[in-house]
Amino acid sequence: AAPSVVVENHLPAGALAGALRADALAGLTATPKRLPPKWFYDERGGRLFDEITRLPEYYPTRRERELLAAVAAEVAQLTGADTLVELGSGTSEKTRLLLDALRDKRTLRRFVPFDVDSATLTAAGAAVAEAYPGVAVHAVVGDFEHHLDVLPAGGRRLVAFLGSTLGNFEPEPRAEFLHAVAATLGPHDALLLGTDLVKGPERLLAAYDDSAGVTAEFNRNVLHVLNRELGADFDPDAFDHVVTWDAEREWIEMHLRAQDAVEVRVPALDLTVRFARGETIHTEVSAKFRRETVQAELAAAGLELTHWWTDPAGDVALSLAVP
Ligand code: AVJ
Repeated sequence: AAPSVVVENHLPAGALAGALRADALAGLTATPKRLPPKWFYDERGGRLFDEITRLPEYYPTRRERELLAAVAAEVAQLTGADTLVELGSGTSEKTRLLLDALRDKRTLRRFVPFDVDSATLTAAGAAVAEAYPGVAVHAVVGDFEHHLDVLPAGGRRLVAFLGSTLGNFEPEPRAEFLHAVAATLGPHDALLLGTDLVKGPERLLAAYDDSAGVTAEFNRNVLHVLNRELGADFDPDAFDHVVTWDAEREWIEMHLRAQDAVEVRVPALDLTVRFARGETIHTEVSAKFRRETVQAELAAAGLELTHWWTDPAGDVALSLAVP
């Protein structure tokens, strides 16, 4: 039979452009200035992130892949899932480990990748349909902060949210997101959550401030995005990449710091933004977790942590949770 791929779009034309304008206007007129990390990921940003995942200092992707390889069969056994939903799936590379495990248990029927980028989704969906005969691909284009309620229902679903993307949420939106996930899960569904763990600040800081300067370029990429999408005239090289570890809140922060006082025009917003010398734009938090905090935050959302796995070094974790 011909591979079955359905792509369902929940992002109306212009929705992303409108969201970028709203975020840029709110963030560049706020004190301190800020821009949400989701705008790093245009095509160049995606390529830079891909490069980050291969840097010697950036352990999370490598560790999570190793951990997933070690536990995928157990996850498949425990869940017996017929549907794998992947939130923020990108190119679905790590997903193959889960798909293979569910196929080997002969329960896999359907793959539901969910992402904002329809081109990436369509390509990834077609590749999976091709490689897993008999598996229906139902791709959903949407924003997982807003559209979790549109996920196709039915069957036993395993919802995977990997790559420590949860770390990009600050506590309040994180709680809202976990509540929204819990609300979509039926009694036979489960959540597989990947999180980076608290560890010594040296390794954390190095992971976000690599010696090759790739993360710095990734951070500055948000200014390239504003230049292209909003006609802004940022000179990205006039901003330094700054990384800090907040030991109390246990998160990494990334900032862009103006080397000199500067005025930037943003024509699409009819806005002039003034920077003092040394002024920063806060571009990302990357929260690090502990078992107790993951368990407590899941419980607050109405989810029960049933299994917790870490790699031998204790760098990252996978959590399995059920309603
Ligand atoms: C994709 C959000 C998991 O926070 O580690 C990598 C993004 N930022 N280097 C992370 C990122 C800087 C990454 N996540």
